[in-house]
Amino acid sequence: MRLLERLDELYAIGGGPGANRPYGSPAEDEAHDLAAGWLAAAGLDVEIDRHGNLVGRSSTRDDVWAGSHLDTVPQGGRFDGALGVVAAIEAVERVGAGTVVAFRGEEVGCIGSRALVAAGGPLPRAFLELHVEQGPRLADGGAPLGVVTSIVGYARAELILEGSAGHAGTTPMEGRTDALVAAAERILAIRDAALGIEDAVATVGELDVEPGAGNVIPSRARLSLDVRAPDRARLDALVAAIDFVPGHRTEPVELSEGCRSVLRDAVESRGLAVVELASGAGHDAGVLAAAGVDAGMLFVRSLNGGVSHSPDELSSDEDVALAVDVLADALGAMTR
Ligand code: HGY
Ligand code: MN
Ligand code: MN
Repeated sequence: MRLLERLDELYAIGGGPGANRPYGSPAEDEAHDLAAGWLAAAGLDVEIDRHGNLVGRSSTRDDVWAGSHLDTVPQGGRFDGALGVVAAIEAVERVGAGTVVAFRGEEVGCIGSRALVAAGGPLPRAFLELHVEQGPRLADGGAPLGVVTSIVGYARAELILEGSAGHAGTTPMEGRTDALVAAAERILAIRDAALGIEDAVATVGELDVEPGAGNVIPSRARLSLDVRAPDRARLDALVAAIDFVPGHRTEPVELSEGCRSVLRDAVESRGLAVVELASGAGHDAGVLAAAGVDAGMLFVRSLNGGVSHSPDELSSDEDVALAVDVLADALGAMTR
């Protein structure tokens, strides 16, 4: 299947382990160049917009877009983002209508889709994004596909903890102000705050220690903070419980009934029961939905316990093929 071969080609960019196409890297550029060739081969009118997003327009109903992102987290999976772009190419080619988009920098705050929305220019009438679920719910429920109802809100920050550097051997424990010990205590408190709020999550994914020598008491610790919740009230409660000032916050967003009903119909017309679920991951579709675009998401089942942001990310060829069929059916219905 051409789509799977294209996923392999994208996966090979940037070297392993996993997918390594971080925002702004030569690898992300190489992926965009590769996809631009596929768009041209599909006979689409190819453009790089002023935000660096890749756009391939067909001659009819180019106001209905489909796509995702080609950047990845370090050592990411084969499907996250890339599946949505290559599937959109297949769907637009099959239907002969619509526009394909690959947004820049989704993994670092949806850079390309936010820039598009903030620029105030014309936005698509509708946007469809096929994406791996990145969780276990579809697999646990025995469903190959799911229609997304809402996209989680999140707040992010960088926390700095200051201490006093000192000699590891001559400084008594009592007198220390060890920045890394303070960071460890803060991280445990962050975890406990999230455990105390239903469906809330909090992650410290980055930790830098200064001066970073084994025989020096840490003087400074920098940690990243990513907290999420399904609704505003719980996100507010989580931010308050952790007691930090978000550097960046995105509100939870409900996806509109327009795309959702088309996606439900497309799933049903393939003889499948409709499963609807919320997304715990952020997506470009959420940025467009928050800007008033009729945005819809179709999830394909993630295997391996739903793992993602990992080389172990996996969806079956059969589920992927079915997902592309449903995406094309939905695009066809929206561009008729
Ligand atoms: O972090 C997220 O939710 C997405 O994978 N960028
Ligand atoms: Mn993604
Ligand atoms: Mn991701």
